[in-house]
Amino acid sequence: MVSAAQNRLEEPSGRYRFPPGFQRNLMWLVLRRLRPANPIHLFQHLAGEYGDIAHYKIAWNHIVFLNHPEYIREILVVQNDNFIKERTVQRSKMLLGEGMITAEGAQHRAQRQVAQPAFHRQRIPQYASTMIQETVRMRGRWRDGEQRDIAIDMMHLTLNVVAKTLFATDLGDEVDELADAINRIMGLYNFLIMLPAAEWLVHVRPPGLAAFVRARRRIDAVVYRMIEAHRREHSDTGSLLDLMLAESPDHSPGSERYLRDQVITIFLAGYETVANALSWTWYLLSQNPECEQRFHDEVDAELAGRQPAYDDLPRLRYVGMVMAESMRLYPPAWAMGRYARNDFRLGDFFLPAKTTVLMSQFVMHRDPRFFPDPLRFDPERFSPEAKTRLAKFTYFPFGAGVRQCIGESFASMEGALLLATIGQKWKLKLLPGHPVEPEPLITLRPKYGMRMLVQAREKI
Ligand code: HEM
Repeated sequence: MVSAAQNRLEEPSGRYRFPPGFQRNLMWLVLRRLRPANPIHLFQHLAGEYGDIAHYKIAWNHIVFLNHPEYIREILVVQNDNFIKERTVQRSKMLLGEGMITAEGAQHRAQRQVAQPAFHRQRIPQYASTMIQETVRMRGRWRDGEQRDIAIDMMHLTLNVVAKTLFATDLGDEVDELADAINRIMGLYNFLIMLPAAEWLVHVRPPGLAAFVRARRRIDAVVYRMIEAHRREHSDTGSLLDLMLAESPDHSPGSERYLRDQVITIFLAGYETVANALSWTWYLLSQNPECEQRFHDEVDAELAGRQPAYDDLPRLRYVGMVMAESMRLYPPAWAMGRYARNDFRLGDFFLPAKTTVLMSQFVMHRDPRFFPDPLRFDPERFSPEAKTRLAKFTYFPFGAGVRQCIGESFASMEGALLLATIGQKWKLKLLPGHPVEPEPLITLRPKYGMRMLVQAREKI
């Protein structure tokens, strides 16, 4: 680790001990461009220049960027009680309201407890057949030789999967409506979170922000329709939505709003992340023919032409390794942050309350100290034997500690089943010349989509 004595920045009071970092306040960057340049580049620069921990300021805000597993463990696990989610997450309340991602303390614990049964280990296998059916339906609509934007296909597929499995709802044609509205919101997201007083502006609605409000209203309409239909039918499928409805029996506007926040949070957290993981996986497979061949060989050998089922998962080992390696290189949750409630110590440093602490899966997962030859796509890094050698907190696509992703098992199963079901019939090839660039929005999206040629494997 970087030694504390190196390049120490001290507050005039001398009370705090800051890590090395930018001397210049980064407010100028924000003012000049209204938002910082690609934050991943900034993080990579900080890690390259200052090592395990770096400090900078934007206006009066202290920000510390961490790039060492020990520091990350310290914040997410050991000192977790001293931290809440950082400002960007707080600001996403404009869209998510008070759902599980943005809630803190007792409210967060209560929400997590209500949702937990839907993510229980015993419950997850019941979702498998729905996931497979949805994928079979989608793969049946593809035509040999077609050019498709796989990123859009994966978004629609995972939206349908979340709606059906967790909310017992068939979105039907609404899937396009919902996906389009969410896309609009994502496009505005980076811009919005940098605006001073954005929460207030959203209510006043200057022209640029009217699009955000309109898109949010469209999403709300779909979600409220879903809630209303379930209430009308008095359904008791044991779905997540039923669990949430049981906790929110009255129809007061406050209660409906609260319910809406819960539903929308799971919706957004549960589909966009998986969709991106899958798009990046298809891209990486298409660029690594040997891995791609091994992937198809395993699917063919283990499934012998039948549709996959939950029980096949333990044997689809390589498929799982491919997905894990893909989330190393292109982690859908590319960075996370916390905000200190009180002064705190971190290694040799002493930092003030209200410091923002950032860490980036994208940067850490590509650190050659922990992942030799880091840019090489190599699923063998996640073989059962190699996994035991992985240092903790160097690979954390699902976060860690009490706020670790509640959907991890759901997502891992979904990813493997969807990949196997599609890969059984189709080979996907990136269109020559199609630009591929990660865009760090709320999740890590392919900036220009993922245009691919789909080839029927039986015809190859
Ligand atoms: C590849 C897929 C996924 C990735 C990479 C991912 C990643 C993450 C990460 C990193 C966090 C922690 C954020 C933080 O601590 O600041 C998180 C939290 C969360 N995720 Fe996921 N997630 C995925 C899939 C899902 C799915 C499928 C669902 C639900 C269906 C889901 C629901 C949630 C929720 C509700 C939280 C908040 C948990 C809490 O604060 O207690 N995620 N996810």
